[in-house]
Amino acid sequence: MTPTWLTQLLFRFGCLLSVLALTSDGNGLSLASDPSGTVNFLDMVNNLQGDSGRGYYIEMSIGTPGQKLNILVDTGSSNFAVAAAPHPFITHYFNTALSSTYQSNGRTVAVRYTQGNWEGQLGIDHVSIPKGPNGTVTINIAAILSSNGFFLPGINWQGILGMAYPMLARPDSSVEPFFNSVVQQLGIPDIFSLQMCGAGLSASSAADPAGGSLVMGGVEPTLYRGSVWYTPIIEEWYYQVEVLKLEVGDQNLNLDCREYNMDKAIVDSGTTLLRLPVNVFNAVVEAITHSSLIQDFSSGFWDGTKLACWMKGETPWRFFPKLSIYLRATNTSQSFRITILPQLYIQPITDVDGTLDCFRFGVSSSANGLVIGATVMEGFYVVFDRAQQRLGFALSTCAASGGVALSEIAGPFSAADVAADCSAGSLKEPLMWLISYALMAVCGLILIILLLLLVLPCRRRDRFGEITDESSLVRHRIK
Ligand SMILES: *[C@@H]1O[C@H](CO)[C@@H](O)[C@H](O)[C@H]1NC(C)=O
Ligand SMILES: *[C@@H]1O[C@H](CO)[C@@H](O)[C@H](O)[C@H]1NC(C)=O
Repeated sequence: MTPTWLTQLLFRFGCLLSVLALTSDGNGLSLASDPSGTVNFLDMVNNLQGDSGRGYYIEMSIGTPGQKLNILVDTGSSNFAVAAAPHPFITHYFNTALSSTYQSNGRTVAVRYTQGNWEGQLGIDHVSIPKGPNGTVTINIAAILSSNGFFLPGINWQGILGMAYPMLARPDSSVEPFFNSVVQQLGIPDIFSLQMCGAGLSASSAADPAGGSLVMGGVEPTLYRGSVWYTPIIEEWYYQVEVLKLEVGDQNLNLDCREYNMDKAIVDSGTTLLRLPVNVFNAVVEAITHSSLIQDFSSGFWDGTKLACWMKGETPWRFFPKLSIYLRATNTSQSFRITILPQLYIQPITDVDGTLDCFRFGVSSSANGLVIGATVMEGFYVVFDRAQQRLGFALSTCAASGGVALSEIAGPFSAADVAADCSAGSLKEPLMWLISYALMAVCGLILIILLLLLVLPCRRRDRFGEITDESSLVRHRIK
């Protein structure tokens, strides 16, 4: 078989598949595969299940022979880890002893999340994704042997897929994250995109789990409407972005823009809610209380300890304003805004009582930065364009309810009214290290100077025979 012959065959085969994909698609217009033919995005549509409350997961086949496991997609961490021992809240786990290709490397690893943590053993194995890019990749796997508050009741996943950058990988950045390995070994473009479809559905109904799509290697046009708006990834660890402004209804919160990025602003599919720095959160709650037609909300609703209930069928959304987040555009003197309707942040919870519909507040306060979590992401098709160091937002085709879009995007707006760098106040990890080193250097310098100051007079005094030992010297100097 000559290579040309093989290429031709593959090309014909590829065309046939594209034609099939085109005809099976209702509106007949889709750009299913990229020119290299290694990625077929339509194959990846609807490869996720889950909801904002318990996360969105993808099915993977791990080891040889493949063991099927559901893996949570988390853009806020960078380790690939799967349960490798039984746990009361999971139905099955990855049995490393049954995989002929599993190799432990003997290192232990521990990871701590905002909620929960686990400990395990590092190793490598082969993994494929039935509804993902074609091919098998050899990747780092952490085999979870013990955990706390990580696997929760009612979840249907057994592992986590950290999609962020190497800097967040544990125990250190030499443990290559899953997506880096996929890009390198399969040669797909360094970009993935995420559509999560739980908008407006009950966050806890096990009956009909919502779907979603994780497209690896590009952007699937059938998953969004309008254009994709891009914001720079300002630091490659989490997917850190720069928030310029927040609006509740038409009202600008008018805080110093650094407050929104204190100590960072990230996009994280593994976080359920929209989390806001305390000051911002308080301002948002106050603005919502003022603009909503309901004044007598108990504080328990805002802090997430109480649900608010209405008579069945009397949806409360018309009482609440829209929320808008302004992000820096790639042209840094401009911004664009992503807006969520109350349907996304006043979230239905399966009825507690037969005659009532109950809702929770989808926004919470945070001590470690602003997090654009699933509550907001469900309104958008989010493009993680790592190749060009930018994140894209577009209107998601599944963020609609009864024909009404639950999210909006608008722009460009001038960013002349905000500081040139709203994340200036944020301490990024490398920066923090730099500052520590700088402080250490300064301390060292002061110490040397002090010692010199101590030693010099000491010699002089020595000459005069006054003070002989170091300790008395120190006492003298303190006086
Ligand atoms: C991946 O492989 C399957 C099965 O051979 C095929 O149907 C699909 O079109 C392939 N996708 C691409 C992009 O080559
Ligand atoms: C960036 O935005 C500014 C302000 O709107 C505009 O004047 C400028 O032409 C834009 N630059 C580019 C490269 O589009």
